[in-house]
Order: sequence, then structure tokens, then C-alpha cells
Amino acid sequence: VTGSLLIEGAQVVSSQGTRIQDVFVDGQRIQVLGDPGTLQVRADRTLDARGLYLLPGVIDAHVHFRQPGYEWKEDLASGSRAAAAGGVTTFFDMPNTSPPTVHLSDLRDKKELAAKHSWVNYNFFLGATPHNLPVLSEPMNIPGIKVFMGSSTGDLLIDDPQVLRQIFMVSAHLIAVHAEDEATLVANQKQLKLTGTMEDHLRIRTPEAALKASSLAAEMAIHFKKRLHILHLTTAQEVAWLKQLKSPWITSEVCPHHVFLSAPKGVARLNTLAKVNPPIRSEEHQMALWAALKSGTIQTMASDHAPHTRAEKERPYPEAPSGMPGVETMLPLMLQQVHQNEISLNQVVGWLCEKPAEIFRVQGRGKIQEGYQADLVLVDMETEWVIQGTQLQSKAGWTAFEGWKVKGRPVMTFVNGTCVYRNGTMVSMPAGQEARIGGPS
Ligand code: DOR
Ligand code: ZN
Repeated sequence: VTGSLLIEGAQVVSSQGTRIQDVFVDGQRIQVLGDPGTLQVRADRTLDARGLYLLPGVIDAHVHFRQPGYEWKEDLASGSRAAAAGGVTTFFDMPNTSPPTVHLSDLRDKKELAAKHSWVNYNFFLGATPHNLPVLSEPMNIPGIKVFMGSSTGDLLIDDPQVLRQIFMVSAHLIAVHAEDEATLVANQKQLKLTGTMEDHLRIRTPEAALKASSLAAEMAIHFKKRLHILHLTTAQEVAWLKQLKSPWITSEVCPHHVFLSAPKGVARLNTLAKVNPPIRSEEHQMALWAALKSGTIQTMASDHAPHTRAEKERPYPEAPSGMPGVETMLPLMLQQVHQNEISLNQVVGWLCEKPAEIFRVQGRGKIQEGYQADLVLVDMETEWVIQGTQLQSKAGWTAFEGWKVKGRPVMTFVNGTCVYRNGTMVSMPAGQEARIGGPS
């Protein structure tokens, strides 16, 4: 039963400001907001939220929840539990599952599974292959088309510039790219004297490979007037180039592991646990990414939650698969930055909630506003805790941020008006809905 709920006295946060308000939720929606004590409403329940912060639920536009095909790593139930615990109320999942999400029927199957099992709202990227071009021009309720320009986990790969060109030409949707130039990766792998250690990963997956792919994709997006979203930026070169390019067709994303970790120091202990594509680079790149997020050259952060089991990740380089979990730790890590006065809570809401809603045209989510869906996170900024992999909801059971002390934690997560997570426990039932993506791209 949803009923109605009055959330009293929380600090309500948007990208524009923070103020104490009462929030009245009726059914699935935010009905009305007002100064404390001024709302003329009769609520079934009230929640005293004084001293807490109320944020719009995070929209994590980049996760790999592994279903179907790799359910031992994660599935929609466990991934969405991890999301809820991390204050994420909507996720967009990537197509490198098994089978890959490349036909309308794959998309339908995933949405059916999510309708049954997801604790939070969902939608799914469609993967581009050299063989599914006709599908890309179809109207579909999806956040976008995913293109792997360099090979990564799974075998979705577009390494032929002619095929890439056709994808941009025909697509009726936003195109999200994993930008690493496959030819450069392959050449590096052949030419370099490899050592068989994690250092190879950086020597193969160079900044030049990243810049080459992202600039090729940008060229096509501008030429065909299609929206391009560059996923997980990792290089100072790319942000310098994007800063001067300033194209209305192009947006970009950065991930927590690329701004909170750097090589070699930050990842030495992690070894292959820190193997991820594109790689975690030097501090110089890390600083450039953080600065680009702050200046608006990069508009959003997403987790790229890519769980693998600990045993898989502990295999020697290069067999250990690339990717790390992150959906549950992204918001807490950012809250710690707020605590350190590096950034404001308003900026966090901009990068994690409002901008993703804007870029992907998510209908009625991403803001605490009258008429919007009640996707909300109540945050206690004073709780200090230690991140521990075994305490997280993801099946992965490990995290690259093991042992990090953070201050600030989601205490309640509401999805479509229903509280699904409270003080460390899932409550109620999976209540996720398909996120509606509005309007043609
Ligand atoms: O590190 C990565 N892991 N990068 C990707 O592009 C894919 C992801 C995965 O699915 O494991
Ligand atoms: Zn990814």
C-alpha cells in the first residue's frame, strides 16, 4: 500500500539550492512542497526528517546488471538492491549480456524480467552490431544505443569506421560510446614488449586510443546531427579537446573509480581488482577529470557498475576480467567529498540526478518537484561508516574502496512513492517501473 506520506522538515536539495521544506507524497507522486508546517494536507503517515537531507533519487545511466546470462556475477534483483541501498532509484543497463541486447525481442525480455525483479526504475540500452542497423532507426523506449568502439567484456564491437558511420546515419536515438580505438589497442598489443602485469593494461589502452575513438565519434555526431554521449572519460586530452569543441550534440560521463583512484599508487594494492576499461590512469588524468566535472565540460557521473566475482578478478593478468562494482558506493563517495568541502550537495544532485534526467530526457524524474515521481533518497550526512565489500548488496562481495571511511549515507530510499530501503535493509517489494524516455532525439 502506498497511501500518502508527509516528509517533514528535511533539507530539500536541488542543483540550485537547499532549503527546509515539507514534501507531500500521494501515491507514486510528489503532490506538493511547502515551507515547514504550511501544507494543508491530510497524510496517512508522517515522517520526521528534521536534520536529514532529501535528494532526488540518483539516475545511474551506466550499469551492467548481467542478466540474462551472467547471473552468478549479478542479476536484476541483486543489482537493483545494490542500487536502492546506494540511493539510486533509476538505472540504465548495458547490452553486453548473454544474449546481448541487440534485437527488440532481447529488449522486451529484459524489460519483462525487470518488471518482475527490479527494486528500482529501469531501462536498457540497445547494443549496436554490424547486423542490426535497421533496428536502430525504430522508435523504442530506450535511453540510447550503445556502441563499443574498442573490445571489452562481451563481444559487441564496432571497429569499422564505415559501420560506425552508418550507425550514426540511421540512429533515431542518442548514441552512447565506449571510446577506445580498437585498431590502436590491437597494434599496441602486438608491438609492445608485454610484461604480463597490470602495467600492460595502461600501455595497451593508451590516452591516444581513447582520444582517437572519442574524436571520431564526435565528428560523426556533428556531421549527422545526432546526440552523442561519451561514456567513462579517462584522459586529460579528451577533456581539453571537449572543452574547446563545446558541441551541443555531445555530452559526457565520468565514473567514480576514475576520479577517486589513480595509477600506480592508488591501485597497486588492488592489482587486477582495479582492471577496468578504459583503465584507471595517472593522477594527472584523474585531476583533469575532476576539474572537468566541476567546470561542466563533463556533465554527469555514472557508476559503470560492472561486477565480477572475486575469484574471477583474482585470476592473473590478463585473464582477470575488466570491471568493478560501484552502484552502491557512488553516492556515498560523493557525500564524503561534500563533507571535505571539495564539492557541494547541490553539485552532486546536478551531476547524479538532474543532468542524467536532462540528457536522457527521462520523464518526471530527477527532481523534487510537484507532479514528479516520488523517487527520493533521505540522507544522513552525519553517519560515519567504513565501506566493506561483504556488507554491500551486490553479488560481487568486494569493492575497490574497501576500508574507505566515509561520512554520509542514504538511510531511506523511495521508489515511486514506496520506501524500498531503510537503514541497511530492503523493505516492501520490488517496485521498479520502466523509465519513460521522452521525445525524439
Ligand atoms: O571494465 C569494463 N567492464 N569495461 C567495459 O567496457 C565493460 C565492463 C563489463 O561489462 O565488465
Ligand atoms: Zn560499462
